Amino acid sequence: MRREQRRRLTALCLLLLVAFLVLRPRLPDSFSFRMWSRHKGLLAEDGQFLLEDEPLRILGGSMHYFRIPKEYWKDRMMKMKACGLNTLTTYVPWNLHEAQRGKFDFSENLDLGTYLDIAAQVGLWVILRPGPYICSEWDLGGLPSWLLRDKDMQLRTTYKGFAEATEAYFNQLLPRVVRHQYSRGGAIIAVQVENEYGSYAKDANYLEFIKTALLRRGIVEMLLTSDNKDGISSGSMEGVLATINFQKIEPILFTYLESIQGNKPVMVMEYWTGWFDHWGGDHHVFDVDQMVSTVSDVLTKGASINLYMFHGGTNFGFMNGALHFHEYRSDVTSYDYDAPLTEAGDYTSKYFKLRELFSKQYSEPLLPAPALFTKTAYGAVTMKRSLSLWDALHLTGEPFKSELPVNMENLPVNDGNGQSYGYTLYETVIYGGGKFQTKGNVRDRAQVFVSGQSVGFVDYKNQELDIAEVPGYRKLRILIENCGRVNYGVKINDQRKGLVGDVFLRDVPLRNYKIYSLDMNSTFMNSLNNIQWSDVSEEKKGPVFCQGALQVNYSPTDTYLSMKSWKKGVVFVNGKNLGRYWDIGPQETLYVPGTWLWLGVNTITIYEEQEVGSALYSVDSPHLGRTQYVD
Ligand SMILES: *[C@@H]1O[C@H](CO)[C@@H](O)[C@H](O)[C@H]1NC(C)=O
Repeated sequence: MRREQRRRLTALCLLLLVAFLVLRPRLPDSFSFRMWSRHKGLLAEDGQFLLEDEPLRILGGSMHYFRIPKEYWKDRMMKMKACGLNTLTTYVPWNLHEAQRGKFDFSENLDLGTYLDIAAQVGLWVILRPGPYICSEWDLGGLPSWLLRDKDMQLRTTYKGFAEATEAYFNQLLPRVVRHQYSRGGAIIAVQVENEYGSYAKDANYLEFIKTALLRRGIVEMLLTSDNKDGISSGSMEGVLATINFQKIEPILFTYLESIQGNKPVMVMEYWTGWFDHWGGDHHVFDVDQMVSTVSDVLTKGASINLYMFHGGTNFGFMNGALHFHEYRSDVTSYDYDAPLTEAGDYTSKYFKLRELFSKQYSEPLLPAPALFTKTAYGAVTMKRSLSLWDALHLTGEPFKSELPVNMENLPVNDGNGQSYGYTLYETVIYGGGKFQTKGNVRDRAQVFVSGQSVGFVDYKNQELDIAEVPGYRKLRILIENCGRVNYGVKINDQRKGLVGDVFLRDVPLRNYKIYSLDMNSTFMNSLNNIQWSDVSEEKKGPVFCQGALQVNYSPTDTYLSMKSWKKGVVFVNGKNLGRYWDIGPQETLYVPGTWLWLGVNTITIYEEQEVGSALYSVDSPHLGRTQYVD
C-alpha cells in the first residue's frame, strides 16, 4: 500500500470512530449497541435469578397500557422506578388489538411497542404476559367476543377454531415484541405462557401449544407460568419456570414449588396489593401494614415479587369483566385496586411504605418520587339538551329482522364480527298482556317497554314481569345491556350476550324481532350531533342521551365526574367512553384524564337508562364508595 493510501485509510478510520462516539448516545433504542454485550438472558439458577452472571432480584409491578392514557405511561413508570421496582409486567388484551377478526390495531393507546420502549428508557425490565387469555377483570379475560360466533367454540383449548385464531393473532403480535427482547437489546427479560391455566386445565395439550406458538415466532427469553393455589398443581410445565400468585403467604405454594422445581428461584408473579370491586358490593381495601409485612416476608425468603397491581388504572368503555360463581357480578369502571398508585396515578401510603422497604435493596438512594398531577374541580356541568334513545335508533341503520332471537355476537354487524359490547334492542309486537318470562335468556340485564312505557327490569334474579292486560297489539321492547363478560372460571364459554334463547309471554315464545345493535361506538356517537335534540327540560325520561359542556379555562387537568343524582348509564367526554356508572355503587365518581380534555368547551354526553340527573359536578377527588377490608 502506498503511503498516501495508508494515510487516507487511517483518517477514514479516525473519522468513523469519532462519528460513532458522537452518534452513539443519540441513536434510537431500537438500534441498540447493548445487544452486543448481551449473551445470557435471565437464568433461573441455584435459588436466584441471574442476568449476565449477576444476581437479579425481580421487584416487579403490574400496570396495563390499555388502562392508562398513553400520555401518562411514562409518568407512571417513573413513579414505579422511584418506588424501587426494577421490572414492569403487563398483560396484552387480544380483544382490543383485534376487535374485528383480521384487523389489527397497535396504534395510539394500544401502541405496545412504544410502551416497551418507554420502559427501557426509564430503566425497567419487562415481563410480558401476552395471553392469549389474560383474566385481568377484563371482558372475557381479554379474548375477542367474535370467537363466540362459533357455537362449538372451546376457549383456551386446542380446539381448531381457537388455536387458529390464536396463531393468527400471535402472527401479528409477536413480530412486534421480538425486537424488544433482552437479547435484542430490549427490556423484555421473560414471557409468560398463558395465564393461571392450572385453574382451568381443560386441555392437556394446550399449554404446550401456546409455548410452541411463542417459540416458533422468535420468543427466546425465559418462559414462565403463573398460578394461584387452585391451579398450581396442574398449571406448570416442563422447561418453564412455575411462579405463584397470592395475597397472604401460602406456605403450601412454596412447598409445592420446591417439590416440582427444587432449588429454582421463587417468584411471586402476582402479589395482590388490593382487590377489585363489583357493582352492588363495597370498595375493597387491603390493609397497608399487612401488605408491607407480607412483601417483606417474601423478600426475607429470598424470593422475587411482582405487585399486582402497582397501578390499576381504569376499565374505560365497556371493557370491564365479571365473575359468575354463585351469582353473576360485573366489575366496576374504576380499576383502582387499592394499589400503591391510585386510579389517577397519585401516591398512597402503600407507595411510600413500599418505597422505604425497597430502598434497602439498593446501595444508592432511589430517584425522587415525581411530582403529582393537579386535580381540578371544574364545578357544575349544566346539561343543556337531550335526546330520547328512540329518536336516535335510525342512526344504527336498518334493524336486523329475525323470526328467532339472535345473540349479540351473532348479529350481522361490524363486518361479520357481530356486536361485542354495549346494548342491544330487541323489538317485537305482542297481543294483550300477561306474564313475561325470560327463563334466564337475557344477558345480562334488560329494561322492558310496552308501547314506550317502561314496565321494569329483568336480570339473572328477576326473570318475570307482569304486563298489564290491554286488548290489542302493542310494541314490546327489550333493551338489553351486556354488563361485561366473565373473565375467570369455567363460565367463559357461556358468555354470549343479548337474547341467548327464547323469552315468553303467557308461556308462548316471542317471535319476529327487529334487532338494533347499540354498541355506542364513535361513529354512532358522532352521528348524534347531526340530528335534532330537545331542551333538557322537555326530555328527561330514559333511555335518553343528554349533553352539557365542561368549560376549561386553563390548561386541562385530571378531574372526576360525580354521578350522584344519576341512576345508571355511560359517560362520554369529547366522544371518549369513560365507562359505566350505577347508583347501586360502590363507585360514585368517574375518572376523567386531563389529557382527554381540551382548553375551552368539552362535550359531556351521558347515556342515562332511567332519568336525567338533577346535576353533574366535576370534583377534584374520587369517591369509590363504602369500603370493606379484604381478608
Ligand atoms: C358503529 O355503529 C354504527 C351504527 O350503529 C354501525 O353502522 C357501524 O358498523 C359500527 N362500527 C363501526 C366500526 O363504525
